[in-house]
Amino acid sequence: MNKLHYPDLQVCVLAAGKGKRMHSNLPKVLHRVLGRAMIDYVLHSAEALCPKAIAVVTGHASEKVREHVGQPINLEWVIQDKQLGTGHAVSQCEEVIRDVRDVLIVCGDTPLLSWQTLAHLVDEHRRLDADVTVLTAQPANPFGYGRIVRDADGRVRTIVEEKDASDDERAIGEVSSGIYCVRHAVLFDLLRSIGNSNAQGEYYLPDIVPLALAAGQRVDAVLMSDPDEMMGVNDRVNLAMVEDLMQRRIIRDWQLRGVTIEKPDTVRIEAGVSIGIDTVIQAGCYLIGRTHIGDECRVGPNSVLVDAWLDDRVNVFAFSHIHGASVGSDASIGPYARLRPEARLDEQVHIGNFVEVKKAVVGRGSKINHLSYIGDASVGVDCNIGAGTITCNYDGANKFKTEIGDRVFVGSDTQLIAPVRVADDATIGAGSTITRDVEPGGLTLSERTQQRYVANWKRPEKESR
Ligand code: UD1
Ligand code: MG
Repeated sequence: MNKLHYPDLQVCVLAAGKGKRMHSNLPKVLHRVLGRAMIDYVLHSAEALCPKAIAVVTGHASEKVREHVGQPINLEWVIQDKQLGTGHAVSQCEEVIRDVRDVLIVCGDTPLLSWQTLAHLVDEHRRLDADVTVLTAQPANPFGYGRIVRDADGRVRTIVEEKDASDDERAIGEVSSGIYCVRHAVLFDLLRSIGNSNAQGEYYLPDIVPLALAAGQRVDAVLMSDPDEMMGVNDRVNLAMVEDLMQRRIIRDWQLRGVTIEKPDTVRIEAGVSIGIDTVIQAGCYLIGRTHIGDECRVGPNSVLVDAWLDDRVNVFAFSHIHGASVGSDASIGPYARLRPEARLDEQVHIGNFVEVKKAVVGRGSKINHLSYIGDASVGVDCNIGAGTITCNYDGANKFKTEIGDRVFVGSDTQLIAPVRVADDATIGAGSTITRDVEPGGLTLSERTQQRYVANWKRPEKESR
């Protein structure tokens, strides 16, 4: 854990914009990158600095953003009724910012930004004793960003937005990340002086730079080493690019912590996933939501795990789908298995191909190896559930439970008409339709029709023409 602590710093997160370029009903900062809203990443990096407080400026669909974030103790909400620009957004925070030396302004649409970079900006700002410090980058493609205009001595003079820039200015490779550290004592006076006579008719935060210089204040720029970090999401093309970069970061992180990932370009591992050492994730897997995978597991090709829990040494064979289910250690699942919500499999359970398990507990060592549906059920330890066994749990209106004891053997192609109980050590003959509770031990089977033999029967043959 980092031990950063900036008690005389307040962070201001700008998240009021509608995100017109997203063409969405969802506020931009709630769009997800690998399963986590963009604003969550930004808040996480901000919180890592342990600042005095964090102010979040919302406006467009603010209630949705608030509902999503909740109410962390040091977070204050600020409403920007009309989105008149980034400078206007910061000026709305004046009342909630007190008794701090500096204000760190970040945008809610830059999820790749790390806390290390933010800390570096604040440290440099203080080391240089600056009034305004802007975090800059030199991305491969500067299109869309504000350009950093420097004078002949290399000192920052102003920042020009893409839409206001001349051809010469557009040719500048150094851009603004939109992130600033500003001395609190000067910030709000500067903001009061900015105007909106520009291409977008907005109050631009970057305009504090020339205003500070005109007032004789010190302005600096800190160039970030990895330009990817400041990538802002303005449309869904950016969103996909940021997700791609985040994915590489997350995969690399798991690789360095002892996870083997085969064909990493083909897998999706979301931000909320955790994976133990010596686990192998094979090509095409999707690990989604709060999925947890223990040590020494193998997740076979093209499996999808959503909010799934695997203990240690679980083997998931190809094309399995596990959603909201948990699997005990040394169990084996699939290929082509489907575990649905509230399936709870104990250790050493075997689930084979084309088996669906839903809302069912399966005890240690039990096997359901082929073509079965087990739903709203409990299965004891060391049972063998034969091929094609179906728990008939639904009468078209209500669901009923099937309870199977320990060491039960269910013959193939059995229907268990719930509600029904099968006692310990029972054996059910193949092809049975079980409508009443089954006694312990012994053999239970439904009446079978007689088998006939027709001796002089000939198979039809193809007519020759
Ligand atoms: C902004 C910067 C640009 C910088 C780029 C980096 C300005 C004018 N431009 O451009 O210099 O290179 O970020 O990504 O600052 N917001 C509000 N209220 C508003 C307007 C915006 O809260 O009235 C918020 C948005 O929700 C967003 C952030 O401010 O999180 C940035 O706004 P956006 O419209 O994305 O600005 P860019 O065009 O990306
Ligand atoms: Mg932006």
